[in-house]
Amino acid sequence: MAHKNGLLPQPDAVAELGPGDSLGIGLAALISGADKYYAFDVVEYASNKRNIEIFDELINFFKKKVNIPDETEFPEIKPFLKSYEFPKHILTDEHLDKALKQDRIEAIRKALLHLGGANRNNIQISYVVPWTDSKVIKDGSVDMIYSQAVLEHVENLSDTYGILYRWLKPGGFMSHQIDLRCHGTAKEWNGHWAYSDFVWKMIKGKRPFLLNRHPHSIHLELLQKCGFEIICDIKFKNTTGIQRKHLASGFKNMSDDDLTTSGAFIQSIKK
Ligand SMILES: C[S@@+](CC[C@H](N)C(=O)[O-])C[C@H]1O[C@@H](n2cnc3c(N)ncnc32)[C@H](O)[C@@H]1O
Repeated sequence: MAHKNGLLPQPDAVAELGPGDSLGIGLAALISGADKYYAFDVVEYASNKRNIEIFDELINFFKKKVNIPDETEFPEIKPFLKSYEFPKHILTDEHLDKALKQDRIEAIRKALLHLGGANRNNIQISYVVPWTDSKVIKDGSVDMIYSQAVLEHVENLSDTYGILYRWLKPGGFMSHQIDLRCHGTAKEWNGHWAYSDFVWKMIKGKRPFLLNRHPHSIHLELLQKCGFEIICDIKFKNTTGIQRKHLASGFKNMSDDDLTTSGAFIQSIKK
């Protein structure tokens, strides 16, 4: 999607927010040619044994140039793509020959086994949990930042977008899939917008995070306020949820568009 939208074709340093229990996307980035991968989460889920297994599977996929798993295998993974063919036009044979060199692959494996250390091939993987300090990455040092089903959980979204902006190099870009549904807190997909702040606080209880309940337009507004230019905004529409009259007072002024947007894929560039 980044390639299609004209964004930097081969990022060198990538950062991920909220990888959860798998560093798989970051490993795919390293295998594709990136040298540095930073992952930031608030709870430690990722197991090294599982990540090594995923890494070995991924190398196999890249070597064999297998197609990307599609929406029949992973119906919940969005955005859906026009083509699930291995992207040979981006990862050309010539590029892959270099990226898949045995010493490079071994360097990535070593970095994965010793998360945090750099080695002679300049490959670096940092998994920082919990990340509380924006200085963990130097300002202006990252080419690409992405997340999958994370930004709906982030508590202080405005500050977080600001930090991501600082981390990026000028011209660097972000790619985020955001799931705006209620995550099981209500019967209908948008039922979380019917709860008052007080009730929502009770529902959240002592969990380290739940949902920030920001609708789609707030993400766009905050991104633009930080200085990002929106390059791609694919909305997933769903008109089956609760109606306007059931919204809690804090959400009453929500637009019809927000009320029916259950997810979004947003790519933006640091101007
Ligand atoms: C629904 S999971 C998604 C995990 C993974 N990206 C995936 O697609 O399977 C949400 C993730 O966001 C993380 N998260 C929540 N708040 C966060 C924050 N402020 N910064 C970074 N990660 C956060 C959670 O710990 C969790 O790993």
